[in-house]
Amino acid sequence: MTMYLLYHGLLLPKETHSLESLKFAQEFTFKDDDVVAVVYPKSGTVWMQEVLPLLLNGGDLTPIQTIPNWDRVPWLEEKRLEAVVDKMASPRAMVSHLPYHLMPPSFHTSKAKVIYVMRNPKDVLVSSFYFHQMAGFLSDPGTFDEFMNTFLEGRVFFGKWTDHLKSWKHSELGDRIMFITYEEMVQDLPAALKRMSDFLGRDLSEETIQKISHHCSFKTMKSNSMSNFSLVPKVYLDSDKSQFLRKGVVGDWKNHFSSEQLARFRSVIHKELQDESFTLPWSLD
Ligand code: A3P
Repeated sequence: MTMYLLYHGLLLPKETHSLESLKFAQEFTFKDDDVVAVVYPKSGTVWMQEVLPLLLNGGDLTPIQTIPNWDRVPWLEEKRLEAVVDKMASPRAMVSHLPYHLMPPSFHTSKAKVIYVMRNPKDVLVSSFYFHQMAGFLSDPGTFDEFMNTFLEGRVFFGKWTDHLKSWKHSELGDRIMFITYEEMVQDLPAALKRMSDFLGRDLSEETIQKISHHCSFKTMKSNSMSNFSLVPKVYLDSDKSQFLRKGVVGDWKNHFSSEQLARFRSVIHKELQDESFTLPWSLD
């Protein structure tokens, strides 16, 4: 576990996070027109790094073709933010894996908007399993069965999936937050983009939405070196073991879960959400 630091009970990879970067995030001054996509890891973060600049700039491809995703739409809590923040033009777009209660004070007093992307946790687990295999800065996942327990117990970066979701569902941010699912984006990306652009107060033509949709498709992103992590040395992301843009589909869990694992997974998630008033947009069966 030496590759992680412990921050308010959360495991964070030291390669990308430090106490200084977390302090920088805590002292970060949000502006009213900032937009942050909050995403539990492996639920579509990098996808939002492609989507947000295009929605905010009306489809100008320059940022996605010239700036690597981690500098273009930086993580609030990661080391790179400090290096790029002065170059970011407003409206600024960021991503974050932080739970709501660890957002900085200025976030709460600003009018910054949040798009919270959620993905079926069964597919999150599968995606995370392969990501742990390829990422040199994350612990070895072991077998799929072992990793399922690690995931369900929250011994993964950014902790339990259920805790993350609960924290944001209870945020009471009113019209500052919109929830969207990864599945909705896969099923009909133009419609999802339209919903997000309306939320952000952007009036984009059908033609612009179609253009953005094309550039944010799995296929186009996979061939974009500014977005597919091919610029990252193998020691950090080993493309022989897996791909960051791996499958980009809904339901890959069916190729991995046994019936016993499905029952175990469902029982833990149900138990942890049993007192919640919100319902999940997917069945866990
Ligand atoms: P898979 O491993 O299931 O393929 P994150 O960016 O939060 O780490 O999430 C990564 C997951 O989002 C990966 O899932 C990746 O393939 C998927 N993803 C990224 N861009 C996508 C796109 N344009 N369409 C569909 N899925 C995408």
